[in-house]
Amino acid sequence: MVTEYICWDCEKGYRPQDLQRAAKILKQHGLVAFPTETVYGLGGSGLCPEAAKKIYEAKGRPSDNPLILHISKSEQLPMIAERIPDVAYPLMKAFWPGPMTLIFHKNKCVPHEITGGLETVAVRMPSHEAARMLIEAAGVPIAAPSANTSGRPSPTTAAHVREDLDGRIEMIIDGGAVNIGVESTIVDLTEDIPTILRPGHITKDMLQQVAGEVRMDAGLLGTDSDRKPKAPGMKYRHYAPRAKMTVFDGELDVVVKQINDRAREYPAAQVGILASEETADSYTHGQVVSVGSRNAGTIEQGLYSALRLFDHKGVEVILSESFSQEDKGEAIMNRLMKAAGQHIIYLSRE
Ligand code: TXA
Ligand code: MG
Repeated sequence: MVTEYICWDCEKGYRPQDLQRAAKILKQHGLVAFPTETVYGLGGSGLCPEAAKKIYEAKGRPSDNPLILHISKSEQLPMIAERIPDVAYPLMKAFWPGPMTLIFHKNKCVPHEITGGLETVAVRMPSHEAARMLIEAAGVPIAAPSANTSGRPSPTTAAHVREDLDGRIEMIIDGGAVNIGVESTIVDLTEDIPTILRPGHITKDMLQQVAGEVRMDAGLLGTDSDRKPKAPGMKYRHYAPRAKMTVFDGELDVVVKQINDRAREYPAAQVGILASEETADSYTHGQVVSVGSRNAGTIEQGLYSALRLFDHKGVEVILSESFSQEDKGEAIMNRLMKAAGQHIIYLSRE
């Protein structure tokens, strides 16, 4: 298949004929990758089993891992979700459109192919104008996982999508680099207390200010292997670069020294160092990639690009700083720890 590329420009928007072609592909159950504010999504018609099958195939993703339905207006919600609890309304008012996904009981018109066999459905209203216009034009909710092949870091540019899916889907919409850089916060509203199944840009504190008590899914916390995360996708090794990665946590000067010492155990071409703008110059040996600035809060945005860059550099080992103390640290560390297969070393000052 030849993948068609079209552009969405933040000032000019779409050329009308491009938007129509994209919508037509979706209506005919084909696949269109598009930008959202979090990461690029791989879109297919949201109520159609055939489109769901194509999504799983293109991504090489296990079909028990459910998809998020993307809507452009609240009126679309009752079509796909049932028994919407009261707490949903203030949350939607505060954070939609935006990087928050809510889990509801599904309406019967949502096929099990979309929900991975579950009786619940994940719903998100993205704020990115390109995404909203595409959903409007398609006239149905759009099912969209991140537009990477399964197991690779989520794409934050159209070039990342091309790397993974060129020739496997009908169209890629290039809207430039995304704003946020990690996937939406997922909140399960089918339990008594709203439960975070995947941390994201909308933090637990932000949710609690609006919804009262909110908890983290036990499967996301600690290393208790009996408690499986409730979002099926969270159990897979994810977001991963090809190299073996270790995260070093502790006071920053101690971390920098330790990474410098360890890096020298490898040839410089084979060892990658995941640093921040503030520390990148402190490393003297290895392939140093700055993920973004701690002070300017751009770590979240640069994370997946940095992980992909190590694949291009072909390093075999990655030594990474920890970002647990930064703003949005919960979301960043969740992805970083998955990329590292949970391999972290805590350092203390001697
Ligand atoms: O920011 C985002 O959420 C991006 C953009 C494209 O919107 N999408 C995204 O989709 O990250 P995906 O498929 O890569 O991740 C969806 C996650 C998976 O971990 C999946 O298991 C979980 O949502 N999920 C979907 N439906 C669910 C359900 N009914 N119950 C629990 N978890 C669910
Ligand atoms: Mg994904």
